[in-house]
Amino acid sequence: MHRFETIASLRQHLAKIRSEQTIGLIPTMGALHEGHITLIEKAKKENDVVVSSIFVNPAQFNNPDDLACYPRTLEEDCQKLEAAGCDIVFTPSVDEIYPEPPKLRLNFGELETLMEGAFRPGHFNGVGIVVAKLFNIVQADRAYFGQKDLQQVAVIRRLIRDLSFPIELVRCPTVRESDGLAMSSRNRNLKPEERAQAPALFQALTLAHELITEGHSTTQAKAAVTGFFTANPNFRLEYVEVVNADTLQLVNEVLAPGQTAICLAVHLGNVRLIDNLVF
Ligand code: PAJ
Repeated sequence: MHRFETIASLRQHLAKIRSEQTIGLIPTMGALHEGHITLIEKAKKENDVVVSSIFVNPAQFNNPDDLACYPRTLEEDCQKLEAAGCDIVFTPSVDEIYPEPPKLRLNFGELETLMEGAFRPGHFNGVGIVVAKLFNIVQADRAYFGQKDLQQVAVIRRLIRDLSFPIELVRCPTVRESDGLAMSSRNRNLKPEERAQAPALFQALTLAHELITEGHSTTQAKAAVTGFFTANPNFRLEYVEVVNADTLQLVNEVLAPGQTAICLAVHLGNVRLIDNLVF
């Protein structure tokens, strides 16, 4: 596996490859787990060359403590990528990506007004800027993103359409621990007793889904989820919403199979976790 730390060296290496081979890109912030690795493996099957980036992007953290506590395990990450068959890893410094603070501001319209957009102001601007930079630097054929961050997928879809990036967006299923907890780099920050309680997110989503399939309204399902977390003082539910899985706009009715999503964000101790179920 080749490792590059500068934009110029990565560009130079890829220039030769691009004319003859297809390239798959997997942007990450490191602290890699099985969820990230499945993205690498899927990209490996669908492209000749797989490029992953590891960059904890300060521009997308709206909370300084979250940035300071974000787990960093670079050497371990590179070993995992190599074992998964990744060909190239890009590990730039903050100065390499942001020689000066970007003045450009991205606004994703309605996507900014609910869920992650509403509760993390500026987050999607930071995601959009860094992903647009990576798209320009790597010029991949396909980019792989996890359903775990469903609203991020919708933001990237808009970015690609609005700026005409010649890249195919591939959404990959959420990988879970055996007890249902969605894998996340932030899970490392859970204390043991919090980790034991964390499967409640998936249980709440499953409960809401069951209620809806039994014929209850989306409002009743959301109320059940709220009740579920109110009963446990260690959790603070930030939001639960039923949305269109592609546009992320709120819906009151269930859409065609695979088109509806229940999304939630919960604080457990000092850790903020998100999860969703698409049905
Ligand atoms: P990060 O949280 O490291 O996630 C990198 C990619 O892995 C994202 O596309 C995310 O959705 C996916 N992923 C995370 N957990 C997953 C799981 N349990 N199952 C499947 N896929 C999962 O998302 C980011 O980084 C950043 O916002 C980034 C896009 C890199 C921009 O900085």
